[in-house]
Amino acid sequence: MKNLIDITDLSKNEIEELIKVAKNIMQEPEKFSEKCKHKKLATLFFEPSTRTRLSFESAMIELGGNVIGFSSASSSSTAKGESVSDTIRVVGCYSDIIAMRHPKEGAPLVAALKSTVPIINAGDGGHNHPTQTLTDLLTISCEKKRLDNLTIGLCGDLKFGRTVHSLISAMSRYKNIKFVLISPEELKIPEYIKEEILEKNHIEYVETNDIEEYMKDLDILYMTRVQKERFFNEEDYVRLKDYYILNKNKLENAKKDLCILHPLPRVNEISVEVDDDPRACYFKQARYGKYIRMALILKLLDIK
Ligand code: CP
Repeated sequence: MKNLIDITDLSKNEIEELIKVAKNIMQEPEKFSEKCKHKKLATLFFEPSTRTRLSFESAMIELGGNVIGFSSASSSSTAKGESVSDTIRVVGCYSDIIAMRHPKEGAPLVAALKSTVPIINAGDGGHNHPTQTLTDLLTISCEKKRLDNLTIGLCGDLKFGRTVHSLISAMSRYKNIKFVLISPEELKIPEYIKEEILEKNHIEYVETNDIEEYMKDLDILYMTRVQKERFFNEEDYVRLKDYYILNKNKLENAKKDLCILHPLPRVNEISVEVDDDPRACYFKQARYGKYIRMALILKLLDIK
Protein backbone atom coordinates (compact mmCIF):
# COMPACT_ATOMS: atom_id res chain seq x y z
CA MET A 1 0.00 0.00 0.00
CA LYS A 2 1.24 3.46 -0.86
CA ASN A 3 0.51 6.78 0.87
CA LEU A 4 1.20 10.35 -0.22
CA ILE A 5 2.55 12.26 2.76
CA ASP A 6 5.34 14.28 1.16
CA ILE A 7 5.77 15.11 -2.52
CA THR A 8 9.09 13.18 -2.48
CA ASP A 9 7.11 9.99 -1.79
CA LEU A 10 6.58 10.11 -5.57
CA SER A 11 9.51 9.71 -7.96
CA LYS A 12 9.88 12.13 -10.85
CA ASN A 13 8.69 9.35 -13.19
CA GLU A 14 5.62 8.69 -11.05
CA ILE A 15 4.74 12.40 -11.10
CA GLU A 16 5.11 12.49 -14.87
CA GLU A 17 2.85 9.43 -15.15
CA LEU A 18 0.22 11.15 -12.95
CA ILE A 19 0.37 14.25 -15.15
CA LYS A 20 -0.09 12.06 -18.24
CA VAL A 21 -3.11 10.28 -16.73
CA ALA A 22 -4.63 13.63 -15.64
CA LYS A 23 -4.27 14.95 -19.20
CA ASN A 24 -5.93 11.77 -20.53
CA ILE A 25 -8.81 12.26 -18.08
CA MET A 26 -9.23 15.88 -19.24
CA GLN A 27 -9.45 14.71 -22.85
CA GLU A 28 -11.70 11.67 -22.39
CA PRO A 29 -13.43 11.88 -18.97
CA GLU A 30 -16.08 9.32 -19.93
CA LYS A 31 -13.43 6.57 -20.12
CA PHE A 32 -12.78 7.03 -16.39
CA SER A 33 -16.35 7.49 -15.15
CA GLU A 34 -16.71 4.01 -13.61
CA LYS A 35 -13.13 3.29 -12.58
CA CYS A 36 -13.88 3.64 -8.87
CA LYS A 37 -17.33 2.05 -8.81
CA HIS A 38 -18.02 0.64 -5.30
CA LYS A 39 -14.97 2.46 -3.84
CA LYS A 40 -15.24 5.02 -1.05
CA LEU A 41 -13.06 8.05 -0.34
CA ALA A 42 -13.11 9.48 3.20
CA THR A 43 -12.25 13.19 3.48
CA LEU A 44 -11.17 13.96 7.04
CA PHE A 45 -10.66 17.71 7.33
CA PHE A 46 -9.63 18.88 10.80
CA GLU A 47 -8.92 22.33 9.25
CA PRO A 48 -11.02 24.48 6.86
CA SER A 49 -10.84 23.91 3.10
CA THR A 50 -12.80 24.70 -0.03
CA ARG A 51 -10.69 23.55 -3.00
CA THR A 52 -8.85 20.58 -1.62
CA ARG A 53 -11.82 18.86 0.00
CA LEU A 54 -14.32 19.61 -2.73
CA SER A 55 -11.92 18.76 -5.57
CA PHE A 56 -11.15 15.42 -3.89
CA GLU A 57 -14.84 14.72 -3.47
CA SER A 58 -15.62 15.80 -7.01
CA ALA A 59 -12.69 13.67 -8.28
CA MET A 60 -14.03 10.53 -6.58
CA ILE A 61 -17.60 11.16 -7.76
CA GLU A 62 -16.39 11.65 -11.36
CA LEU A 63 -14.55 8.32 -11.08
CA GLY A 64 -17.86 6.66 -10.18
CA GLY A 65 -17.04 6.24 -6.48
CA ASN A 66 -18.60 7.55 -3.27
CA VAL A 67 -17.51 9.97 -0.58
CA ILE A 68 -17.87 10.09 3.20
CA GLY A 69 -16.19 12.36 5.74
CA PHE A 70 -16.26 15.48 7.88
CA SER A 71 -15.21 19.06 7.24
CA SER A 72 -14.26 20.21 10.76
CA ALA A 73 -12.76 18.65 13.87
CA SER A 74 -15.73 19.93 15.88
CA SER A 75 -18.17 17.73 13.95
CA SER A 76 -16.14 14.56 14.61
CA SER A 77 -15.31 12.63 17.79
CA THR A 78 -12.03 14.56 17.93
CA ALA A 79 -14.15 17.05 19.89
CA LYS A 80 -14.60 14.29 22.53
CA GLY A 81 -10.85 13.70 22.73
CA GLU A 82 -10.33 10.87 20.21
CA SER A 83 -6.76 10.59 18.87
CA VAL A 84 -5.85 10.82 15.18
CA SER A 85 -4.59 7.21 15.29
CA ASP A 86 -7.90 5.88 16.61
CA THR A 87 -9.93 7.97 14.15
CA ILE A 88 -7.88 6.61 11.24
CA ARG A 89 -8.19 2.98 12.35
CA VAL A 90 -11.95 3.36 12.52
CA VAL A 91 -12.40 5.28 9.25
CA GLY A 92 -10.33 2.60 7.51
CA CYS A 93 -13.19 0.17 8.32
CA TYR A 94 -15.59 2.32 6.27
CA SER A 95 -13.49 3.52 3.32
CA ASP A 96 -10.90 2.45 0.73
CA ILE A 97 -8.77 5.61 0.79
CA ILE A 98 -8.47 8.65 3.07
CA ALA A 99 -7.60 12.29 2.28
CA MET A 100 -6.75 14.10 5.48
CA ARG A 101 -5.97 17.71 6.45
CA HIS A 102 -4.73 18.52 9.95
CA PRO A 103 -3.30 21.63 11.64
CA LYS A 104 -0.49 19.59 13.26
CA GLU A 105 2.61 19.01 11.18
CA GLY A 106 3.25 15.29 10.82
CA ALA A 107 -0.32 14.20 11.69
CA PRO A 108 -0.85 12.48 8.28
CA LEU A 109 2.40 10.56 8.77
CA VAL A 110 1.20 9.34 12.18
CA ALA A 111 -2.10 8.39 10.53
CA ALA A 112 -0.32 6.45 7.78
CA LEU A 113 1.53 4.34 10.35
CA LYS A 114 -1.81 3.10 11.76
CA SER A 115 -3.93 3.02 8.63
CA THR A 116 -5.09 -0.06 6.76
CA VAL A 117 -5.97 2.07 3.67
CA PRO A 118 -3.89 4.64 1.71
CA ILE A 119 -3.55 8.06 3.33
CA ILE A 120 -3.23 11.28 1.34
CA ASN A 121 -1.87 14.35 3.10
CA ALA A 122 -4.25 17.16 2.15
CA GLY A 123 -2.16 19.71 4.09
CA ASP A 124 -0.47 19.47 7.50
CA GLY A 125 0.07 22.75 9.37
CA GLY A 126 2.80 24.88 7.82
CA HIS A 127 4.62 21.78 6.58
CA ASN A 128 3.50 20.20 3.29
CA HIS A 129 0.64 20.14 0.80
CA PRO A 130 1.66 17.57 -1.81
CA THR A 131 -1.61 17.43 -3.76
CA GLN A 132 -1.47 21.21 -4.22
CA THR A 133 2.01 20.67 -5.64
CA LEU A 134 0.72 18.02 -8.05
CA THR A 135 -1.94 20.56 -9.06
CA ASP A 136 0.76 23.21 -9.58
CA LEU A 137 2.90 20.84 -11.67
CA LEU A 138 -0.03 19.88 -13.89
CA THR A 139 -0.90 23.58 -14.30
CA ILE A 140 2.69 24.51 -15.23
CA SER A 141 2.94 21.54 -17.61
CA CYS A 142 -0.33 22.52 -19.36
CA GLU A 143 0.23 26.28 -19.41
CA LYS A 144 4.01 26.48 -20.06
CA LYS A 145 4.37 23.12 -21.90
CA ARG A 146 7.46 22.31 -19.86
CA LEU A 147 8.65 21.69 -16.30
CA ASP A 148 12.29 22.64 -16.84
CA ASN A 149 14.09 25.86 -17.86
CA LEU A 150 11.90 28.06 -15.68
CA THR A 151 12.51 31.06 -13.44
CA ILE A 152 9.93 30.87 -10.67
CA GLY A 153 9.08 33.76 -8.35
CA LEU A 154 7.53 32.71 -5.04
CA CYS A 155 5.96 35.64 -3.24
CA GLY A 156 4.40 36.23 0.17
CA ASP A 157 4.49 33.96 3.20
CA LEU A 158 7.43 31.71 2.42
CA LYS A 159 7.90 30.80 6.08
CA PHE A 160 4.57 29.11 6.81
CA GLY A 161 3.47 28.55 3.21
CA ARG A 162 3.28 24.76 2.95
CA THR A 163 2.41 24.95 -0.77
CA VAL A 164 5.67 26.81 -1.38
CA HIS A 165 7.75 24.27 0.56
CA SER A 166 6.32 21.33 -1.40
CA LEU A 167 6.65 23.17 -4.74
CA ILE A 168 10.33 23.99 -4.17
CA SER A 169 10.95 20.36 -3.29
CA ALA A 170 9.24 19.13 -6.46
CA MET A 171 10.66 21.70 -8.91
CA SER A 172 14.21 21.20 -7.63
CA ARG A 173 14.25 17.87 -9.50
CA TYR A 174 13.94 19.57 -12.89
CA LYS A 175 16.71 21.06 -15.06
CA ASN A 176 17.68 24.72 -15.06
CA ILE A 177 15.19 25.90 -12.44
CA LYS A 178 15.87 29.24 -10.75
CA PHE A 179 13.92 30.60 -7.78
CA VAL A 180 13.30 34.23 -6.83
CA LEU A 181 12.15 34.16 -3.20
CA ILE A 182 10.11 37.31 -2.49
CA SER A 183 9.04 37.90 1.11
CA PRO A 184 9.24 40.33 4.01
CA GLU A 185 12.14 39.61 6.39
CA GLU A 186 9.82 37.97 8.96
CA LEU A 187 8.37 35.51 6.42
CA LYS A 188 11.55 34.34 4.68
CA ILE A 189 11.91 30.76 3.53
CA PRO A 190 13.07 28.47 6.41
CA GLU A 191 16.80 27.72 6.59
CA TYR A 192 16.19 23.96 6.31
CA ILE A 193 14.60 24.43 2.86
CA LYS A 194 17.60 26.46 1.70
CA GLU A 195 20.16 24.03 3.08
CA GLU A 196 18.49 20.68 2.48
CA ILE A 197 16.86 21.35 -0.87
CA LEU A 198 18.21 24.41 -2.68
CA GLU A 199 21.87 24.34 -1.69
CA LYS A 200 22.15 20.55 -1.59
CA ASN A 201 20.81 20.32 -5.17
CA HIS A 202 22.81 23.38 -6.39
CA ILE A 203 19.63 25.24 -7.32
CA GLU A 204 20.14 28.92 -8.14
CA TYR A 205 18.09 31.29 -5.97
CA VAL A 206 17.94 34.90 -4.82
CA GLU A 207 16.02 36.45 -1.92
CA THR A 208 14.41 39.88 -2.08
CA ASN A 209 11.58 41.79 -0.45
CA ASP A 210 10.82 43.73 -3.66
CA ILE A 211 8.19 42.10 -5.91
CA GLU A 212 9.21 44.24 -8.92
CA GLU A 213 12.99 43.75 -8.74
CA TYR A 214 13.08 40.50 -10.77
CA MET A 215 9.62 40.71 -12.40
CA LYS A 216 11.00 40.89 -15.96
CA ASP A 217 12.87 37.57 -15.51
CA LEU A 218 9.98 35.46 -14.26
CA ASP A 219 8.24 32.66 -16.19
CA ILE A 220 6.02 31.82 -13.20
CA LEU A 221 4.88 34.12 -10.40
CA TYR A 222 3.44 32.07 -7.53
CA MET A 223 1.60 34.38 -5.10
CA THR A 224 0.65 33.22 -1.61
CA ARG A 225 -1.56 34.49 1.18
CA VAL A 226 -0.20 35.68 4.51
CA GLN A 227 -1.91 33.07 6.67
CA LYS A 228 -3.68 34.55 9.67
CA GLU A 229 -4.11 31.11 11.25
CA ARG A 230 -0.32 30.57 11.52
CA PHE A 231 0.42 33.79 13.46
CA PHE A 232 0.76 33.87 17.23
CA ASN A 233 -0.19 37.53 17.51
CA GLU A 234 -2.72 39.68 15.64
CA GLU A 235 -0.38 42.71 15.51
CA ASP A 236 2.24 40.91 13.37
CA TYR A 237 -0.46 39.59 11.03
CA VAL A 238 -2.02 43.05 10.55
CA ARG A 239 1.42 44.57 9.83
CA LEU A 240 2.30 41.96 7.16
CA LYS A 241 -1.01 40.97 5.58
CA ASP A 242 -1.00 43.60 2.81
CA TYR A 243 2.76 43.67 2.24
CA TYR A 244 2.29 42.55 -1.38
CA ILE A 245 -0.65 43.44 -3.57
CA LEU A 246 -0.10 42.39 -7.18
CA ASN A 247 -1.79 44.84 -9.55
CA LYS A 248 -1.54 45.84 -13.23
CA ASN A 249 1.19 48.41 -12.56
CA LYS A 250 3.46 45.87 -10.93
CA LEU A 251 3.11 43.64 -14.00
CA GLU A 252 4.26 46.36 -16.42
CA ASN A 253 7.71 44.81 -17.00
CA ALA A 254 6.58 41.18 -16.79
CA LYS A 255 6.94 38.74 -19.70
CA LYS A 256 4.00 38.45 -22.09
CA ASP A 257 3.79 34.73 -21.32
CA LEU A 258 4.21 34.99 -17.55
CA CYS A 259 2.00 32.49 -15.72
CA ILE A 260 0.51 33.89 -12.48
CA LEU A 261 -0.42 31.17 -10.00
CA HIS A 262 -1.92 31.17 -6.50
CA PRO A 263 -3.04 28.09 -4.54
CA LEU A 264 -6.01 30.21 -3.29
CA PRO A 265 -7.81 31.32 -1.20
CA ARG A 266 -6.76 34.87 -2.06
CA VAL A 267 -7.31 37.69 0.40
CA ASN A 268 -5.76 40.97 -0.87
CA GLU A 269 -2.49 39.81 -2.43
CA ILE A 270 -3.77 39.83 -6.01
CA SER A 271 -5.95 42.75 -7.01
CA VAL A 272 -9.14 41.64 -8.79
CA GLU A 273 -8.11 43.83 -11.77
CA VAL A 274 -5.48 41.16 -12.55
CA ASP A 275 -8.14 38.43 -12.93
CA ASP A 276 -8.89 39.43 -16.54
CA ASP A 277 -5.22 39.42 -17.56
CA PRO A 278 -4.59 36.36 -19.80
CA ARG A 279 -1.55 35.61 -17.63
CA ALA A 280 -3.74 35.02 -14.55
CA CYS A 281 -3.99 31.22 -14.30
CA TYR A 282 -5.11 30.74 -10.68
CA PHE A 283 -8.73 29.80 -11.37
CA LYS A 284 -7.64 27.38 -14.11
CA GLN A 285 -5.18 26.00 -11.54
CA ALA A 286 -8.07 25.18 -9.17
CA ARG A 287 -9.76 23.27 -12.02
CA TYR A 288 -6.60 21.29 -12.81
CA GLY A 289 -6.62 20.21 -9.14
CA LYS A 290 -9.59 17.92 -9.69
CA TYR A 291 -7.96 16.04 -12.58
CA ILE A 292 -4.64 15.41 -10.87
CA ARG A 293 -6.49 14.17 -7.75
CA MET A 294 -8.47 11.78 -9.97
CA ALA A 295 -5.16 10.44 -11.32
CA LEU A 296 -3.76 10.16 -7.77
CA ILE A 297 -6.80 8.25 -6.44
CA LEU A 298 -6.46 5.75 -9.33
CA LYS A 299 -2.76 5.30 -8.62
CA LEU A 300 -3.11 4.78 -4.87
CA LEU A 301 -5.99 2.33 -5.37
CA ASP A 302 -3.91 0.57 -8.02
CA ILE A 303 -6.63 0.95 -10.65
CA LYS A 304 -5.29 0.94 -14.22
N1 CP B 1 -5.33 25.55 -2.07
C1 CP B 1 -5.98 25.06 -1.00
O1 CP B 1 -5.45 24.21 -0.25
O2 CP B 1 -7.22 25.58 -0.81
P1 CP B 1 -8.22 25.16 0.34
O3 CP B 1 -7.60 25.58 1.65
O4 CP B 1 -9.50 25.87 0.04
O5 CP B 1 -8.36 23.67 0.29
